[in-house]
Amino acid sequence: MKSNEHLVIITGHSSGLGRALLDICLQDKTYVVGIARRRVELQHPHLKQIQVDFSIMDYGIDQLLQPLAPILDAAAWQTVTLVNNAGTVQPVGLVGQLDARSIAASLHTNLTIPLQLSNWLLRRFPQQKLRIAQISSGAAHKPYAGWGVYCTSKAGLRMASQVMATEAEVSGCDLSLVIYEPGVLDTPMQDELRKSRVEEFPQVERFRQLHKSGQLVAPRDSAQELWQLLCDKDLPRLVETRYGARGS
Ligand SMILES: NC(=O)c1ccc[n+]([C@@H]2O[C@H](COP(=O)([O-])OP(=O)(O)OC[C@H]3O[C@@H](n4cnc5c(N)ncnc54)[C@H](OP(=O)(O)O)[C@@H]3O)[C@@H](O)[C@H]2O)c1
Repeated sequence: MKSNEHLVIITGHSSGLGRALLDICLQDKTYVVGIARRRVELQHPHLKQIQVDFSIMDYGIDQLLQPLAPILDAAAWQTVTLVNNAGTVQPVGLVGQLDARSIAASLHTNLTIPLQLSNWLLRRFPQQKLRIAQISSGAAHKPYAGWGVYCTSKAGLRMASQVMATEAEVSGCDLSLVIYEPGVLDTPMQDELRKSRVEEFPQVERFRQLHKSGQLVAPRDSAQELWQLLCDKDLPRLVETRYGARGS
């Protein structure tokens, strides 16, 4: 694949899984747009970074993506992939004890922005081969006490992906969706989670044990598996999978 054929937009490229995926894409000579609050201290001709806080609801998606205009207009991308990876597990706590604003901010980051970016992608690239990876979680299927907002956002993202796949059958657009559960990752999100109080997250001890016993997944391994999937020329319309399930 030549560098100007595949454009990959990664949200949350500054840390954890997103950072690992960024490195893999750049090694593969793929052009990457990374969007997060922090910049990565890396100068690379194939990397463009946008700094934005997804929890702020004051601006529209077109305004947010304005710095991309020269890239989008200048190059003829054959494939454009959006990886909706940015996310937060906060606020952790039982419903009834949460700060109302943090509920809205979290849903905006984890659910509204990925849906808005997907909407933008489909509108902006009607002729290209499109791929959207939604970084999901077991929390999309299973209720965890203390993760009311996180579970809700991941379940919503999963359903949005299923709807988009169904719509693509109708519209005939060249879109594939990957709902990917990356495993329990050794990233700052897990560091943060292990600091939760048991009253706000009753299962916290299980996650502490996974860390203690060395069972966390290295973000690079998970990102590698995801990237292999996204580079599959015969990717079906909708794939839902989790780290390790495909035998890697
Ligand atoms: N860690 C796990 O065990 C685990 C398990 C299942 C699923 N996941 C999912 O995997 C994805 C990546 O998680 P991770 O473990 O790699 O977490 P991480 O290391 O904490 O990274 C999260 C990324 O999201 C970005 N982000 C968070 N809030 C943002 C905001 N308001 N605006 C813009 N960017 C924001 C962060 O960038 P800035 O801080 O620079 O903004 C960072 O790059 C998430 O969707 C998470 O839900 C993680």
